[in-house]
Amino acid sequence: MLFTSGGATTQALLPLNFAAAGQPVDYVVTGHWGKTALKAGQAVCRRQRRRQQRGRWLRSIPARASWNLSPDAAYVHITANETIHGVEFRELPDTGSVPLIADFSSSIASEPLDIRRFGAIYAGAQKNLGPVGIGVLIVDRQLLERAGQPRADIFDFRSQLKAESMSTPRRAGTGTCSA
Ligand SMILES: Cc1ncc(COP(=O)(O)O)c(C=O)c1O
Repeated sequence: MLFTSGGATTQALLPLNFAAAGQPVDYVVTGHWGKTALKAGQAVCRRQRRRQQRGRWLRSIPARASWNLSPDAAYVHITANETIHGVEFRELPDTGSVPLIADFSSSIASEPLDIRRFGAIYAGAQKNLGPVGIGVLIVDRQLLERAGQPRADIFDFRSQLKAESMSTPRRAGTGTCSA
């Protein structure tokens, strides 16, 4: 379990940590926050052609069989409860061997949760847990060990775990890099 700086939106770091370069990530958009996560993800992971889904998305969740997911996705992202649109997953979708990651910002701690069903869950603390400016990420160790993509140490969940969610120590001296 990691305590992360910034709110739920900071989990734009998920694809950097868990998706290999060029690997697709599937986002199930059932409302505003899912769309925000998708947009953030598209800055990092491969942009796919827009998929047209039939059904009453944003008002209900169409049957899993009608979803168009990639078998080689790094993970599938859902928003457990869409705070604005009011769409909530009462049953978890079967994603096979692809880990399921869920944004629980507006439903965490409201009822018992079987955490083993997820690769990771996260939440901004300000809604259901307490203070603004931090978030919580509960992540399966196997997922945590993925190489992901080049990123600063402070954005690397493995380093954050080692540092027990505190900022990583800095070494004195000089250094150079070229972009
Ligand atoms: C489901 C959900 N996800 C993400 C967010 C964004 O959270 P934050 O303001 O902590 O970045 C919210 C905020 O209302 C939310 O309800």
